[in-house]
Amino acid sequence: MIKKSYNKNLHKLNTFGMKVSASLYIEYDSAEDLTAIQWDKLPQPVLNMGEGSNLLFTKDFPGTVLHSGIKGMDVVEQMSSGDDLFVRVGAGVIMDDFCDWAARKEVWGPENLSAIPGTVGAAPVQNIGAYGVEAADIIDSVECFEIATGKIVSLSAEECEFAYRDSFFKHNRGRFIVTHVTFHLHGDFRPVLEYGKLKEEVERNAEIYKADADPYKPIYQTRFVPPMPVSPMLVRETVKIIRENKLPSPSKKGSAGSFFKNPVVDAAVFRAVEDTAAGLKGETVAVPHYDLPDGSVKIPAAWLIEFCGFKGKTCGGAAVWEKQPLVIVNDTGRATPRDILALERTIIEKIKDTFGIELSPEVDHI
Ligand code: EPU
Repeated sequence: MIKKSYNKNLHKLNTFGMKVSASLYIEYDSAEDLTAIQWDKLPQPVLNMGEGSNLLFTKDFPGTVLHSGIKGMDVVEQMSSGDDLFVRVGAGVIMDDFCDWAARKEVWGPENLSAIPGTVGAAPVQNIGAYGVEAADIIDSVECFEIATGKIVSLSAEECEFAYRDSFFKHNRGRFIVTHVTFHLHGDFRPVLEYGKLKEEVERNAEIYKADADPYKPIYQTRFVPPMPVSPMLVRETVKIIRENKLPSPSKKGSAGSFFKNPVVDAAVFRAVEDTAAGLKGETVAVPHYDLPDGSVKIPAAWLIEFCGFKGKTCGGAAVWEKQPLVIVNDTGRATPRDILALERTIIEKIKDTFGIELSPEVDHI
């Protein structure tokens, strides 16, 4: 069913809490609904939005915002070998509900992506990622509605051209609307624990909570634990705790998660960053980094931002999150797009001046 609202207030519909409106807002709950829309009559441009958790509205939106209510999680295929599952999930399902479903079923795949805000439909567009897993690693195919032809098309994972926080959909904005995502989950034991201290934390939690009988009680509520030694639920709960300690709670502080991408630079640029940091500090500085297979180096933007003294810095109602400076928050609840854009610009300029690296925003500017 389609529901239309004009001059829709989007304040509660974007996690940054920007007080903006859209000329037209359309809610729909099936792929068929999309075929019934007269696309050429809609105020333009058209923006399909999930939870509004990875975007920054910079002003009132003159076009049409569409919101998917397509639900459903259906096992479409279960392989006998290793109990692999293919699950088709509606774009309007909350991503974390899907992560919870998979952990309860004790299948591996999305547990590291637990507690990422947003819907399943946004996962392939942004190629969401956390703790060593990206949506690309677990997506089998993506079904979408092609606005120009009115047809549903299915793209294989390869056709989605996934890259770091990037995909085919990002380069074809306004052409496709994701309706369903089919995930490939695994029954055999395959936790991904190599990121940071995740393995250590999972093992620590496994020890602490060993005693409990109820496998599915969330750790943070009960201080008790899932089946041992390591289950998808244990990894999920551990990831949730790590995120809770670092990232602002979406219900308490408006934000859109990581505001910037982690820059990938040549090895020579990385050495120059080390030299600059050492020059400024007057001593050798261990700059955190990840060496990538092609010889380039990924540097955590959080480190660059912290080094340049931005932790906790404010600009009007906006602030750099103290515990994870990669995140900009609507600190007062009354931050305007202008506050956030000004803070963003100041950070980008300072890091460019200091290290010669230009940060790119991870959050979509609308
Ligand atoms: N760091 C600092 N100071 C800080 C925090 C972090 O210097 O205050 C440095 C440390 O060296 C740390 C490194 O940054 O080791 C990495 O920090 P973290 O593990 O928190 O990850 P991130 O690179 O900052 C990325 C994703 C997050 C995802 C985490 C965990 C991007 C843009 N962000 O952040 O994704 O949760 O890894 O996998 O790639 C999101 O996209 O919205 C998001 C939150």
